[in-house]
Amino acid sequence: NKAQAWSARFSEPVSDLVKRYTASVDFDKRLARFDIQGSLAHADMLAHVGVISAQDLANIQKGMQQIMVEIEQGQFEWLLDLEDVHLNIEKRLVELIGDAGKRLHTGRSRNDQVATDIRLWLREEIDISGQLLVQLRQALATVALDHHDTIMPGFTHLQVAQPVTFGHHLLAYAEMFARDAQRLQDCRKRVNQLPLGAAALAGTSYPIDRERVARTLEFDGVCRNSLDAVSDRDFAIEFCAAVSLVMTHISRLSEELILWMSPRVGFIELADRFCTGSSIMPQKKNPDVPELARGKTGRVNGNLIALLTLMKGQPLAYNKDNQEDKEGLFDSADTLRDTLTIFADMVGGIKVKPENMRAAALQGFSTATDLADYLVKKGLPFRDAHETVALAVRKCEESNCDLADLTLEQLQEFNASIEADVFEVLTLEGSVSSRNHIGGTAPARVKEEAERILAETRG
Ligand code: ARG
Repeated sequence: NKAQAWSARFSEPVSDLVKRYTASVDFDKRLARFDIQGSLAHADMLAHVGVISAQDLANIQKGMQQIMVEIEQGQFEWLLDLEDVHLNIEKRLVELIGDAGKRLHTGRSRNDQVATDIRLWLREEIDISGQLLVQLRQALATVALDHHDTIMPGFTHLQVAQPVTFGHHLLAYAEMFARDAQRLQDCRKRVNQLPLGAAALAGTSYPIDRERVARTLEFDGVCRNSLDAVSDRDFAIEFCAAVSLVMTHISRLSEELILWMSPRVGFIELADRFCTGSSIMPQKKNPDVPELARGKTGRVNGNLIALLTLMKGQPLAYNKDNQEDKEGLFDSADTLRDTLTIFADMVGGIKVKPENMRAAALQGFSTATDLADYLVKKGLPFRDAHETVALAVRKCEESNCDLADLTLEQLQEFNASIEADVFEVLTLEGSVSSRNHIGGTAPARVKEEAERILAETRG
């Protein structure tokens, strides 16, 4: 079986099924660009320390350039017989330039090669996702600024709790996505370390210059232990965990968008391009995009658990188990990218229905806490004020009205210290604007926060 790069030792070929079972080229060919980048940096270093000649390096550079063109133009022939992206490219290089191509793999193994490829690819994914998170936060802050004083009910236990502004609600997500961006940035530091030089597991006897390779590939440093460098995928697990958290936040937002779009709630409309109809019920406009995002969060969580489980039983150093790291990792990265791209667009196009939000905030006694706080300012201990307002709410429920509908005389029956200024705190506007501190829902604060985030995301 001549096609296999390691075949001289073997007396019989693998079956077609085993070939398919062990091959990864169908999915790792997407690493080609990074594989070539890594090979060029390695070759440059080999020439620099005198392991290969300057002519060999020039040939390798020329050959790789042609291979890149062939891949980009879809002319490159990927062969399952050649197992993975690395052997496919190397084989073609040898076809094109002969012996210089055969010297490229000096002082290197596919084990440190693949670890390098994944890190180069992942670093780029992290940077792209970071950009997309900025765009999503910008979209959230833009809508939040427009609606810094649009009042809606805030919920706990999905029961009306206290009025908040819609802008404030959206900026809660902007905070979550800011932390997600920090997490990805932090993960990047550990991704951005160079495995090359570790070779198969123990390092290499050639006089290599790992720091030179690291500089060429813009890594922050080199992995300090060869056994660790080729075997651990903790950086990929960390990335998947960070993606799971982004998607968890996306999923919570999705759940709210779906709820808010329900005709029963009617707080928002999503643009038609993110929804679909029903093949049987003509009236339907379904929030497919947020529903799918909520669903895909499950798959992304699965990818995290798969990677953790993949790693846990592996003795040092490299084991072929690690080839299974890719599909889930790619899937999490792709899902993240698509989801963030769509959400930045979708959030920016939310159509808000302030009247419905306001009507909902007026139901459910959302200013009851404000009445209690009012009584505290009149001298009552908070627990007594709480009890007094509870009695007033009960009375309102019996007569099917809101607290603000009670007359001053009726309110005074609950506590004699209540005066006409009570109606200022019983209004929705009074309630929200009194929460005027950092992190509070007062429209003035929400406007400030939205402007802060907009300045940050533009800057
Ligand atoms: N395709 C392999 C992977 O993804 C490359 C490394 C293979 N190394 C080996 N010794 N078989 O992990």
